[in-house]
Amino acid sequence: MARPRIALIGAGQIGGTLAHLAAIKELGDVVLFDIAEGVPQGKALDLAESGPVAGFDATLKGTNDYADIAGADVCIVTAGVPRKPGMSRDDLLGINLKVMKSVGEGIKAHAPDAFVICITNPLDAMVWALREFSGLPREKVVGMAGVLDSARFRHFLSLEFGVSMRDVTAFVLGGHGDTMVPLTRYSTVGGIPLPDLVEMGWTTQDKLDAIVQRTRDGGAEIVGLLKTGSAFYAPATSAIEMAEAYLKDQKRVLPCAAWVDGAFGLKGLYVGVPTVIGAGGVERVVDIKLGRDEQAMFDKSVDAVKGLVEACKGIDGTLA
Ligand code: APR
Repeated sequence: MARPRIALIGAGQIGGTLAHLAAIKELGDVVLFDIAEGVPQGKALDLAESGPVAGFDATLKGTNDYADIAGADVCIVTAGVPRKPGMSRDDLLGINLKVMKSVGEGIKAHAPDAFVICITNPLDAMVWALREFSGLPREKVVGMAGVLDSARFRHFLSLEFGVSMRDVTAFVLGGHGDTMVPLTRYSTVGGIPLPDLVEMGWTTQDKLDAIVQRTRDGGAEIVGLLKTGSAFYAPATSAIEMAEAYLKDQKRVLPCAAWVDGAFGLKGLYVGVPTVIGAGGVERVVDIKLGRDEQAMFDKSVDAVKGLVEACKGIDGTLA
């Protein structure tokens, strides 16, 4: 059987890391697309030259021509600009909306059967716009945010408890922004929910609140340190987990920015929710009952996402 084809739209920091991970994990043959001439070609060649040493079977090609993504099984979109210190993700809206238009049209023309994972920020609005511009089925277009946000939460919790990150699960809902909703009662260490661990004296509520806030600010913390761009290792690793779930029909339960129509009382919106990812794309949205405080936080996050979607419609009349 032919290897799957993975198209990476954007060959910057995240795009290059995605290509490296996809090759090392032998997820398929990789095409790196970018508007910058030479960059995708240079990264693809450099990575291909690591192949004999790393020992992977995958071809890597760099291109500035959308025709080369033809027949892609998965497209991962990072095209656009990242944040600089002091910027919020929302500050990227105007520039990255234009990028989503050209990327959406490129995917529509050359890879209409692909499973599309958007990483470009502001995430929830950009995945919505990308779906609109591409016209692909909604279950085949999804945003990567929750896997990253929960990975950050898990990492911070593992440091607090002094336990393996593998034994920490985390549950994060809502938009990929300052209003994201880490759900502590569904986050566990070895199956024990966080509120129980507070009762058991493993940590205090204050410390837990500080970890939740650090998770919300996780992206800004990295931007503040790097100064020239935003996080790329953890975002790329998170998107690869989603791509693998699709390509291998793993039916993984992963938090993603998915189209929600009916669940959570929402009428058609891209926002972070737990999903099942398999060969059908987003095969299921896991609708859970929220407590009063949780619902209030989720509503606030949903309102922020709706505001960004309206802003997109204001900028590009074809989306209205
Ligand atoms: N089409 C294709 N590629 C584009 C386009 C376009 N219209 N516009 C910009 N690019 C490319 C740039 O040339 C660059 O190589 O997108 C790439 C972005 O790479 P980086 O600047 O390194 O950004 P990165 O850190 O990879 O983040 C990309 O993901 O997490 C989000 O906020 C982040 O929106 C940002 C995106």
